[in-house]
Order: sequence, then C-alpha cells, then structure tokens
Amino acid sequence: MAKGLLGIEGIERSEIEAILERAKVFQPATNRHTKLDTLRGQTVVNLFFENSTRTRTSFEIAAKRLGADTISITASGSSISKGESLVDTLNTLGAMHPDAIVMRHAASGAPHFLSRYLPTPIINAGDGAHEHPTQALLDARTILDRREKLESLRVAIIGDIAHSRVARSNIHLLSKFGADIVLCGPASLLPRELADIAPGVSLTYDIREAIKDADVIMMLRVQLERQHEAPIPSGEYFRFYGLRLEHMSLAKPDAMVMHPGPINRGREITSEVADSQKSAILNQVENGVAVRMAVLERILA
Ligand code: NCD
Repeated sequence: MAKGLLGIEGIERSEIEAILERAKVFQPATNRHTKLDTLRGQTVVNLFFENSTRTRTSFEIAAKRLGADTISITASGSSISKGESLVDTLNTLGAMHPDAIVMRHAASGAPHFLSRYLPTPIINAGDGAHEHPTQALLDARTILDRREKLESLRVAIIGDIAHSRVARSNIHLLSKFGADIVLCGPASLLPRELADIAPGVSLTYDIREAIKDADVIMMLRVQLERQHEAPIPSGEYFRFYGLRLEHMSLAKPDAMVMHPGPINRGREITSEVADSQKSAILNQVENGVAVRMAVLERILA
C-alpha cells in the first residue's frame, strides 16, 4: 500500500481484496484477542477534529491489539480549541515522529493536505463529505461474510447521500467490484451528478423502487451538521425515506440491512428493522476492528 490510506477511489481492487482477506484473520471468530506484537514500539496518533464513537474507538482497539501505542487527540480537548491552525497542529505532531496518524476532519481533502505536508502515513477516518475508506472496507467485509461476491449484487444506499462520505467510499468500492448501486433520497439530498461518479450507479427518489430486489440496503443518517439549507422536517423525512418492516418484503428474501451508525431510530430506520435478524449493524462494528487491524498492519508492519 502506498504511504497511507486516503480514499477508496485511488486504490486498486487487488489492494482492497488483500485487506478484506487479511481482515478475516482478525475477526472475533478466528481471533481470540490475544495481544499481538506486530506493531510493538510504534505509535499511532488518532487525530479527531469531528465527533466519533465507532471509528475512533475501533482504530484505537485495532492499534492496541497489534501492540502499538496509541494516543487520541480530539479537537475539544486540545490546542485546536485555542485557535491553533491545522498546519501548526500538524507540525507539532510531526515533530513527535508518530508512525501513523489516523485523521478525521470536517474539511474534504484535509488528510490529503496533511499527507503532502508530513512524511508520516495518514489514514483518512472521514474527511467532510468526501471519503471514509475504512468504513467502505468494513462494509464490504460485512457483505462478504454473508454473500460470496460483490459482483452483480444490487445495493441500495438510502438517505442523505449528498453529505455522506460513507456513501462515496462505498460507491467507489462497490463499483470496482461490479455491483449494481442504487442511490435514493429526497432530491435536495441526492445530487444528479452522482449518477456519473462511477460505473453501475443509478438514482431514484422512490424508496420502494430502490429496495425492490435489493441484496443489501444501506441506510444513512441525515447529516444535519453538514446542511446549510433548512432541513426536511423529521416526521416527513421518515414518512418518505424511513426504512420500515413493510419495505423488507420488496427486497430479496435474504436481503441484509446495514447502517454505519450512529442510527437515529424513528428517523431513518425503525427499531424493528434495526434490531431484526436481517440487520448487520453490529457485525459492521465488529468488522470495524478487524478491518482496521488489517489496514494498520499493511501500512506499518
Ligand atoms: C459516519 C461518519 O462519521 O461518516 N459514521 C461512522 O463513521 N460510523 C456516518 C455518520 O456520521 O452518519
């Protein structure tokens, strides 16, 4: 792998396959969580300028299970809240010579900027509405735990596509593997140009059409923090785009439901669906650790 991992768009399918294959070794069923010493003596800095539960924790657990030392820095608990510029924060961290920096930032391209600036490998943990590569990798791992291949699967991605880095990274990944990708959401959250982002992508405003014959239904949170326009009232959003049990009969009988979290129950998905047998939401979280171990190992070992 190149220096770090900035996005899915720029990496080869073979690279993705290697990570997904290696992640299997770190899955709970095969890995008894004995602490490995693969990365002993290395330091991974988690630099989070935006809130996170799953991503930050799982990167930290992944690094620790591989034997690395980890340090987590959040914007509110650091000098970033004292007005320090991004460049100064980065130079300060760079001067401590960490072995890798995992970074989340509200600005699209922030990790790319950082990687041009520092010799340290950078792993993008979400940059604005741009990419969230390890999320797409863990999503692919989760699908492949239940399906043989990604090719020809019909994957519906439903919700606030416009502001979703999870959607973008998943579109790039699934497209590289020949999946059929249907994007669905209200017109204000579904820009038409997304139809051209990658091969195999189509758009619909109708949730029923999106779900029809789907193998995988990926739900997304409405990212109010990234919206500048007045938001769609939540009751109305739920009426048109909330995933309910009744929708599931339109999908393939063995369809799976996914969500990167955090989920807003009663807004984009009902509890009945989120907690059902078809839901793979907690498997996604489990795979988050396994996939991040595979990524860290590939970059640092
Ligand atoms: C997502 C994110 O931060 O992009 N969450 C995550 O990493 N699991 C999605 C979201 O915040 O809605």
